Amino acid sequence: MRVIITKDYDQMSVWAANYVAKRILDFNPTEEHPFVLGCPTGSSPLGLYRHLVKLNQKGVLSFKNVVTFNMDEYVGLPVEHPESYHSFMWTNFFSHIDIKKENVHILDGNAKDLMAECKHYEEMIAAAGGVDLFMGGVGPDGHIAFNEPGSSLASRTRIKTLTTNTIQANCRFFDNDETKVPKQALTVGVGTVMDAREVLILCNGPKKARALHHMIENGVNHMWTSSMLQMHPHAVVVCDEEASVELKMSTYDYFKDKQRIEGSIEEYVNLYK
Ligand code: GLP
Repeated sequence: MRVIITKDYDQMSVWAANYVAKRILDFNPTEEHPFVLGCPTGSSPLGLYRHLVKLNQKGVLSFKNVVTFNMDEYVGLPVEHPESYHSFMWTNFFSHIDIKKENVHILDGNAKDLMAECKHYEEMIAAAGGVDLFMGGVGPDGHIAFNEPGSSLASRTRIKTLTTNTIQANCRFFDNDETKVPKQALTVGVGTVMDAREVLILCNGPKKARALHHMIENGVNHMWTSSMLQMHPHAVVVCDEEASVELKMSTYDYFKDKQRIEGSIEEYVNLYK
């Protein structure tokens, strides 16, 4: 696992966006062979999306031949609700780039048959040739997508009931009223994320410090579902200093030394300026 410790949220966002942009550009996607990108929601990726939009508008990067699959969606929340993940993605990302509407995939949390919707989603990912790069955030309890603590580490796309912890964390988007937060969501599974050829996780702020510690320093454990990424052959975690405060000094020093020697911050931060 590659761990990049950036100085703050802005640097993390620019690093991650340029990393994603380079992957897409190097892939050289075409209509017949598009790049398949997994997308998260939440506050963590907002800066990354803003920077990708800038690169698109500057003409550095096109999304014409990019196909996306979002990680999750609330159950029972109308698509047009401002806090649905459909609204989030169009407001913060898709409306500002040259992506084709038919290339965007987001789970339908209002489908009549939710199980069938999840099965169909997995089939669509497979038909697209699998995900090339899954971007993600983590919850304060280390969950990835909506794979709450205790989720199977081999799980596929399915319905999950949210924990009180997640409902409390997400009620900031629902007038700080826990009763307004949907209690269930459709989410890709840990296994679905693990199938991606590459995974890029964003982890910032002091509230994520415990999650980062469990994700990279403790063993693989279904109570911290993002820790499964330790088993992924190509996982990158990009965090900020604030999220790194619970790491052991030896872990912190190792990754900082490594990035100094390899020049890994400059490698991406200064691209496309
Ligand atoms: C939700 C989403 C996750 C996201 C997490 C963290 O639970 N389902 O995909 O990673 O929130 O959100 P934030 O980035 O706002 O802290």
